[in-house]
Order: sequence, then C-alpha cells, then structure tokens
Amino acid sequence: MSSGNKAYEKKTFDLSSLNGISDKQLEIHFALYAGYVTNTNLLNEKISEMLKTGKGGTPEYAELKRRLGFEYNGMRLHEYYFGNMTKSPKELASDSKLRAQLDNVFGSYDSWKEDFVKVGTMRGVGWAILYQDPTNGNLSNHWITLHEEGNPAGFRPLLVMDIWEHAFMVDYKPAERAKYIEAFFSNICWDSVEARIS
Ligand SMILES: [Fe+2]
Repeated sequence: MSSGNKAYEKKTFDLSSLNGISDKQLEIHFALYAGYVTNTNLLNEKISEMLKTGKGGTPEYAELKRRLGFEYNGMRLHEYYFGNMTKSPKELASDSKLRAQLDNVFGSYDSWKEDFVKVGTMRGVGWAILYQDPTNGNLSNHWITLHEEGNPAGFRPLLVMDIWEHAFMVDYKPAERAKYIEAFFSNICWDSVEARIS
C-alpha cells in the first residue's frame, strides 16, 4: 500500500527588526502562514482518506479539491514573500544579472519598479509578483487576486509581494498601502530573488 504524499512543514524566517514592518505585524502574518501549511496537510489527508474509502467524485470530494489551489498557493506564496525579505538588505547590484534583464525588458530598474508598484496599488487585495517565463526568459509583473487565480503556469516567481491588508494592517492604515510597499522594497533580499532565476 502506498504511503501517500509527505506532509509539509512550516518554515521559519528570521526577519526581526525589518524597516517599516514591525515584529508584531510579522508575528500575525507568520501565524496566518502557519494556517495555510496546516490546512494544506489537512486537505491532503482528507482527500487521501476519501479516495481510500471510495468517496472520490462525490460533491464533498469536489469541494475539497476546489480548495487545494487556495491552500497550496497560500502556503507557497507566503514562503516566497518572507523568503525575499532580509533584515540586512542591500541594493540590487548595478552589475547583477537581474538588473540587466530588468533594463532589457522594462528599459530600466526604475521603470520596472514603477510598474510593479502600480500593480501593488491596484484596488483589491492580492499579490504583486515579478515572474520569469523559463521558456524564453521573459519577465513580467502580475496581479494575483486569490492565491490560486492568475498564476501563469510554469512561470517562476522571482519577487513576491503580499498586498492583502493583513500584511500591513498593524503598521499602516488601509489607505497607506504605498508606504507599506516602500517599506517592503527597503527589505528586499535581492540575492534570494536572483537565486530564483532559471
Ligand atoms: Fe499574507
């Protein structure tokens, strides 16, 4: 008998004393992230159990399947988000591969950032993500509404920014999202972002 998929383990991120994103804010956010890991594992267990007991294809089974993308991506996108911040940030190096690619696609780093920030300040809650298409190296900024909606298949997330209000509500008012975005930018770990390029 097969043993099934492995359970996911919650990752930890050492991000105390960031610029403009408080430890209290992070504590709440880490707890939300932990919920996605727990729910991903729970869903997988329930689905596996239903399959074993001949309940695949029932409406209950279909409903659990519909929730998978939300929980999986909620887990993974938060890991990318926390993973692309650092408490000892440095500017994106002028001779870096990513800067050259951003210059090539968007004209300049500043033009890319302007677009990314515009995506991040779109109305509604969601995610702003810089993706790379590994088939041709193209870079593009995307808006993801719910975690499971809008992720281009097979693309690599390079820079992930959470713009749900829970990501900044402790430190900023809902109308101050632009301030949160600037704080986020001041904490980016560009080495981690570059390591995601294929
Ligand atoms: Fe979040």
